[in-house]
Amino acid sequence: MASDVCEKVLQYLDKTPSVSTVDLANYIKEDHQTVVGAVKSLQSLGDLITAEPQSWKVWELTDEGRLVADKGSYEFHVFSAIPPDSGIPQEELMRTVDNFKVGFSKAMSSGWVRVDKTGGRPVVLRKVDAAEDSVGQDLRHIRDGLGGQVAENFKQEYKRRRLLQQTVKKSYLLGRGANFSTSVTKPETELTPEMIATGSWRQKVFKPYNLDAMGVAPEGGHLHPLLKVRAQFRQIFLEMGFSEMPTNNFVENSFWNFDALFQPQQHPARDAHDTFFLCDPARSTRLPEDYVERVRRVHSTGGHGSRGYGYDWKLAEAQKNLLRTHTTAVSARMLYRLAQQPQFRPVKYFSIDRVFRNETLDATHLAEFHQVEGLVVDYKLTLGDLIGLLYEFFGKLGIERLNFKPAYNPYTEPSMEIFSYHDGLGRWMEVGNSGMFRPEMLLPMGLPEGVTAIAWGLSLERPTMIKYKLNNIRDLVGPKVDLQMVHDSPICRLDKHGGEAGALRELERRWDHIHASLEELAARVAALRVSPGPEDLHLAITANPSHPPFSLRVLLRLLSLAGPVACTEHRHSSLRAAAPAPAGFPGVEPRDGPGRLHVAFIWKDEGVDPTLVVAPVGHTNVVGEVNVARHLARLLERRPGPAAAPYEGRGAAWAAQADAWLDRAYDVTHGGPRERAEVVALARSTLSTREWLLGPAVSLADVCLWSALRQDDVAGTLPRELRRWLDKCSRHPVFSHSAS
Ligand code: PHE
Repeated sequence: MASDVCEKVLQYLDKTPSVSTVDLANYIKEDHQTVVGAVKSLQSLGDLITAEPQSWKVWELTDEGRLVADKGSYEFHVFSAIPPDSGIPQEELMRTVDNFKVGFSKAMSSGWVRVDKTGGRPVVLRKVDAAEDSVGQDLRHIRDGLGGQVAENFKQEYKRRRLLQQTVKKSYLLGRGANFSTSVTKPETELTPEMIATGSWRQKVFKPYNLDAMGVAPEGGHLHPLLKVRAQFRQIFLEMGFSEMPTNNFVENSFWNFDALFQPQQHPARDAHDTFFLCDPARSTRLPEDYVERVRRVHSTGGHGSRGYGYDWKLAEAQKNLLRTHTTAVSARMLYRLAQQPQFRPVKYFSIDRVFRNETLDATHLAEFHQVEGLVVDYKLTLGDLIGLLYEFFGKLGIERLNFKPAYNPYTEPSMEIFSYHDGLGRWMEVGNSGMFRPEMLLPMGLPEGVTAIAWGLSLERPTMIKYKLNNIRDLVGPKVDLQMVHDSPICRLDKHGGEAGALRELERRWDHIHASLEELAARVAALRVSPGPEDLHLAITANPSHPPFSLRVLLRLLSLAGPVACTEHRHSSLRAAAPAPAGFPGVEPRDGPGRLHVAFIWKDEGVDPTLVVAPVGHTNVVGEVNVARHLARLLERRPGPAAAPYEGRGAAWAAQADAWLDRAYDVTHGGPRERAEVVALARSTLSTREWLLGPAVSLADVCLWSALRQDDVAGTLPRELRRWLDKCSRHPVFSHSAS
């Protein structure tokens, strides 16, 4: 062992009070690491020696540096290869010397050599009689431990040339400890009865405790994996500000388990095939009478805007005792209790406890399991609140990708099954159920009108099986559970942030999103390419008749000149029967032919700016008249023939100017009086120097601004020059092309 090295260390310290492990290793001719090992074991014997950690930087030659130290520097090779009197053609020198480039440039800058180009091809000549290879010399000094003789700036220079490198060395400065001695006795590790009886312990040296040593696993109780996961779920709920509901009654009656939850008495779940009913005591008799009455009413005849189920509700059925089939029974009790408070206050509740169902047993189903349930009650909660909450809740479990599927529960509407994407299995898995409690459930309890409750539930077993990689539920619950599994299963740490893998997944998710958008964009562009190609293009344009989109009518007419267009006009059901559709729309004679553009004009009476185009079939929405105009102008430019209202076809800079005017047109219809006045002033000064907004010809900008300014409530307020421009527009063939 290292014990003879230990001895050597002590012997040395006996003579010299202090030494570094590096020097000591050199002196006793041992490997430095061996000496350090000996120091460690001496330290464990008490205060025998002192050892102060030290670190310092040393210069070491790189592989190349070692080569230069052995063979001389490249520049010296270059110099030496030049015949003293005649010199040597550069080409030849290049061939004979290794690393010519570096060596030559260094020799030049050291003033050792020169080049003569007078004879046509360059010849290298010695410039000095002799050169001293100080680089090689310095490196040899460093190699031989005489680095102190080399100036720091040279060392830095050699480092840049990758001949030298600096490394950090760790060592110890040793000294004598308070109990220094050269004779090492192996310390006792145990105090025996004999030592005490004979008093020999007084002379003994005992090994100190090593408090850093690994412990022996305790043999006490171990938490079952379900309890470990439950603790984590509880922690998440508590972090989110939820309080725990009392779930200490496995036995419940049908009233709280079903009736209070607006689950009809004929519902199949209330059958003995699905639910465990109790024989003794078979019935509950203490139920809140007036509430029972309200429940009877809502089931049988409805109320609160509901028609109810229209059957004869029986108290006897509600009194039947059972093993609760879900913890939602507890939620019902808590909601009822909440409704009895003199003043409603919002709450967030959760529970995690056992429920019972009369199921066929298999690898993933038992007749009992644990349910995790969350519940939030407040005014005006929405499905959006529920979805947001679910993202937060599952996010804390490290589950970030969720999907929701409409579902049915008697007590919630809407209801959603919750799916999460399982990366390992590469598919979506159902992880829970959720919904908003029905008014038929909340109002009979006495909760104020407008109070809403969102809730969700999931099993504790499934995440536990996933977490602990068990695929048979019998390995987790029941008589076949291997106690060693319980003993060995690690604590449950939910990978809340997903670590590096999580960040990658997040990136992937964002990329997927971008990818999907790009694909959609490509599909849109493909759909716009109406010509050539036999496929027809379908657009639907919805518009509010109180703001007829005149610009679109112009563009559709132009489109119909460039290719076959068929327009139809429709009234949406939101339009009041009396409201007239504007005259002159759609204003296009239908024409047949390949690549026909079908446009359905739908008059609708909703929203602030309902003008929008839906293309091709309900997939891409373009919202706002000017944006729809852009869309149609692009279509127009893709059709054969000259574009009669040019837009992007004239290049990006031109289109940017057009865009600025389109935005101004938007401001006229949507902005306040100030924005409108600004646009009017700008249009006036622009049109005072030009015939049209973007130059000598009509552009999309003119079409859109004309359309915005000719609205009845605007046109009357315009200055004379602009009104004249409006008139000129209206007479121009682009604006009135339909006749031709
Ligand atoms: N009770 C439901 C079940 O057994 C879970 C759930 C709770 C659904 C709350 C909606 C709202 O699956």
